[in-house]
Amino acid sequence: MRYIVTGGAGFIGSHIAEVLSGEHEVVVIDDLSSGHCENLTGIDCEFVEGSITDLPLLQETFAGADGVFHQAAIASVPRSVEDPLATHAVNLTGTLNVLIAARDCGVRKVVMASSAAVYGENPELPKREEMAPDLLSPYAAQKLSDEHYAAVFSRLYGLSTVCLRYFNVFGPRQDPSSPYSGVISIFASRILNGDPIAIHGDGGQTRDFVYVRDVVQANLRAMASDAEGVFNIARGEQTDLNTLARSMMQAAGQEVAIRYGPPRGGDIRHSLAEISRAREVLGWRPEFTIQEGLAETMRWI
Ligand code: UD1
Repeated sequence: MRYIVTGGAGFIGSHIAEVLSGEHEVVVIDDLSSGHCENLTGIDCEFVEGSITDLPLLQETFAGADGVFHQAAIASVPRSVEDPLATHAVNLTGTLNVLIAARDCGVRKVVMASSAAVYGENPELPKREEMAPDLLSPYAAQKLSDEHYAAVFSRLYGLSTVCLRYFNVFGPRQDPSSPYSGVISIFASRILNGDPIAIHGDGGQTRDFVYVRDVVQANLRAMASDAEGVFNIARGEQTDLNTLARSMMQAAGQEVAIRYGPPRGGDIRHSLAEISRAREVLGWRPEFTIQEGLAETMRWI
């Protein structure tokens, strides 16, 4: 099979490309705005440097492809708040380009990255796919609109689509130096350097962390199945930040100071996913415990 991975030089995309490359022809398209070529070291794939905002490039690149894993995005809530138009161009118009190019090239299926951001502050837990969205940022609006476009392309043009609502994904290649990086890669690099870590708020906030290799498997299951629609991708487990910090120090065998500061503006308090739809319909389940994922992440750092 020939598969396209948009954002394939990025964190999640490079893991998808890596697993596919053992068995399939893989084409990575990435504009290197946040991805890095080093993420593709040792991965057998064709690399196209370019943006999903370039429709003719996508139409050329997608020719002959069986499926598209669409991971390219400016995956940052704060960036979208600062610059709604620029993030719209990539996250929404870029996704529309991906759908159009896939349709025009006769691609069978597009599996795309959505986000738990669409649930916002809706206090009901666990978050279920059919819950009403609560949009707190342009990023959330862009991802939800992407889901709607995907559904419309399925109905109108027969392009099969799946949208995976990622919760807090972590693992190797999540750049700890990026201001938009996840808490686990930030903590891991600080703990391993012996530097203090900062907790925004009292550390009682919770997240549903999922290891990147499980996210890859969710993508592969979604591509292989006939299913369409929206699926939560998480472990279905709540971890508070104080517990996370303790387990990470334990795993690293290194104690560092914790500095508590004010809560971060716009943060939600709790997050937990209902993952039974992905289990039942895609036959996917998370295999890596948080401890196993943390150990692999720290080995990488
Ligand atoms: C995550 C996603 C984001 C998505 C959002 C949807 C990641 C990296 N981000 O954001 O794409 O839109 O869910 O709800 O997965 N924290 C600290 N100290 C630090 C860094 C973070 O205390 O040094 C705290 C944050 O204030 C937050 C928690 O850790 O309470 C998680 O933060 P973060 O990893 O940035 O993810 P989310 O904000 O959940």
